[in-house]
Amino acid sequence: MKWMFVSHVFHLLLYCSTQTLGVEIQSEPDVNSEGVIQIELNQTVNLLCLSNGGSEAQADEELVWLRNGAMVSLKEGNKNGRSSVCVTPVIYEDNGATFTCQLKTNSTVGSSVTLNVTYRPQLSGSEELTAEEKSALVLQCNILANPPVSSVSWTLNGSALDLLGGGFTVTNDGYESQLTVSSVGKSLHEGLYRCSTHSPIYGEASKFFSVTVTEQTMKFPLIPIIAGLLVVCLTALLAIVSRWKRIAKCFK
Ligand SMILES: *[C@@H]1O[C@H](CO)[C@@H](O)[C@H](O)[C@H]1NC(C)=O
Ligand SMILES: *[C@@H]1O[C@H](CO)[C@@H](O)[C@H](O)[C@H]1NC(C)=O
Ligand SMILES: *[C@@H]1O[C@H](CO)[C@@H](O)[C@H](O)[C@H]1NC(C)=O
Ligand SMILES: *[C@@H]1O[C@H](CO)[C@@H](O)[C@H](O)[C@H]1NC(C)=O
Repeated sequence: MKWMFVSHVFHLLLYCSTQTLGVEIQSEPDVNSEGVIQIELNQTVNLLCLSNGGSEAQADEELVWLRNGAMVSLKEGNKNGRSSVCVTPVIYEDNGATFTCQLKTNSTVGSSVTLNVTYRPQLSGSEELTAEEKSALVLQCNILANPPVSSVSWTLNGSALDLLGGGFTVTNDGYESQLTVSSVGKSLHEGLYRCSTHSPIYGEASKFFSVTVTEQTMKFPLIPIIAGLLVVCLTALLAIVSRWKRIAKCFK
């Protein structure tokens, strides 16, 4: 009885495997065992989907490609039995994107790969900045990278920042590292700043900021001046109006 049951299951499995089509994805560069393709930003990924059916007729099944669930449009002649798509160049938004190839007639028969797009942080060059004495200073470094950077550091004139003594605040949200000084002083804050990152695969990257502190300029007190002018004008107007009444009376 038990054996019969097992034998039935076995036959059922055999039946399915000969009746259903399989779909296989080949890729350049290769897919790893987790279904992930390692690729660097700006490079090219070539994907080829093959339907390896039980019989000749089935091997000609129409295929569709999806990118994150959205249909990719394919040219005629690139649909039946084999279908290739090419991602070139690979962009930031392709990181984590999943490409799925499946049968048009049966979406449960398909195969997927996911892209792992690696890129270095966009940190280079130098920027010249001037900050007025007593004003705020904000320096920002883009540290977004894949894999994430393992460290971020800031220096001023080549030495580590004295966070407390210098009144510096450094924040880091994984996208940007931001250095803030709420009230700039020439002796403490003028100089050459550098933010540096270390990436486990790309090594060091850094950006310079040359900060000049200028004297505080007298702010033109615009609002009190406007208010003052308004009072003067209104008084003059009132004076004319009251004078006009008297003049008008005279002319009656
Ligand atoms: C789609 O394929 C699955 C798996 O091979 C199979 O079980 C199912 O019956 C198929 N559906 C249709 C509508 O052909
Ligand atoms: C990728 O290509 C863009 C545009 O051609 C270029 O600006 C950028 O520097 C390239 N990035 C890398 C990491 O090669
Ligand atoms: C993507 O590649 C990087 C660098 O090889 C690796 O550290 C990271 O774990 C990979 N991520 C995934 C989701 O595979
Ligand atoms: C950094 O170096 C510049 C040029 O040598 C100097 O003018 C400035 O005072 C220095 N900044 C600090 C905070 O020591």
